[in-house]
Amino acid sequence: MKFFIDTANLQQIREAQDLGVLDGVTTNPSLMAKEGISGTDRILKHYVDICEIVDGDVSAEVIATDYEGIIREGENLAALHQQIVVKVPMIRDGVKAIRHFSQRGIRTNCTLIFSPGQALLAAKAGATYVSPFIGRLDDVSTSGVNLIEDIRQIYDNYGFETQILAASIRHSMHIIDCAMAGADVATCPLSAILDLLKHPLTDIGLEKFLADYHKVNG
Ligand code: E4P
Repeated sequence: MKFFIDTANLQQIREAQDLGVLDGVTTNPSLMAKEGISGTDRILKHYVDICEIVDGDVSAEVIATDYEGIIREGENLAALHQQIVVKVPMIRDGVKAIRHFSQRGIRTNCTLIFSPGQALLAAKAGATYVSPFIGRLDDVSTSGVNLIEDIRQIYDNYGFETQILAASIRHSMHIIDCAMAGADVATCPLSAILDLLKHPLTDIGLEKFLADYHKVNG
């Protein structure tokens, strides 16, 4: 299972990279705005800065919602750096654009996936990744993890190579549930990744080991 970090914050990306378990980054317009990154030149430079910190894929989202606009913007983004994956919304023109990109070797992440049918359509169009938003489904009393299980089943039935990128992850249990359900990737806030470290018995056990060592070694 790959771990991506879901942020545009360079410091958090560095921290996750430093931990040695980071496989990529996802961003979206809201995350870029949260960091105060605005204006085309600054946005494009920020994507390059992210690519220089991590070794893996970096999702950069298009703003256009019409076919020609998505193609134009996506091709510009893809040309920025070899690690860029063009993030395209699950809309009619987005699906057409994903087909265009996949035929030209441009990798895509189809975002805002909330149903198995949307995931099937994105895979048919040749998306590299699909991003089911599990936290936002949980927010409206619908199981996000069930969606991951359904997509896994459909992709396995037909051998689709599109990777399931579990998104909108809120906490460490979501990561575990997605791993159990067979997601290929989880894109997470740094806090959810770091929470995987925690167990009180680890702390108690380590304290005891060190105390016993110091009893006889001073
Ligand atoms: C995925 O790529 C999205 O950027 C993200 O996971 C959305 O998460 P949110 O529901 O916490 O905004």
